Amino acid sequence: MIKATQLLLHACAHNPTGVDPTLEQWEQIRKLMRSKGLMPFFDSAYQGFASGSLDTDAKPIRMFVAYGGECLVAQSYAKNMGLYGERV
Ligand SMILES: Cc1ncc(COP(=O)(O)O)c(C=O)c1O
Repeated sequence: MIKATQLLLHACAHNPTGVDPTLEQWEQIRKLMRSKGLMPFFDSAYQGFASGSLDTDAKPIRMFVAYGGECLVAQSYAKNMGLYGERV
């Protein structure tokens, strides 16, 4: 049996659906993962594009960190604020 220990999550502007969980749903995801001992691995590629705010789009990651849980974050700077090709 394969036992997953990490779960890949898109921090915002979920690719390819574009459908993001609400903050309440993120909290449910956080609690479920914590209860199952799963390590969150955030792929943050579109910060600032989903909501127009760099801060708002980082909230899911900050929520996981605020509760003291370890997490891994891969941050791309290639598409911030939807500026494709303009490395901000
Ligand atoms: C969800 C997601 N993660 C990561 C990447 C890769 O980002 P980078 O171009 O900075 O390697 C992309 C690129 O399109 C992406 O859509």
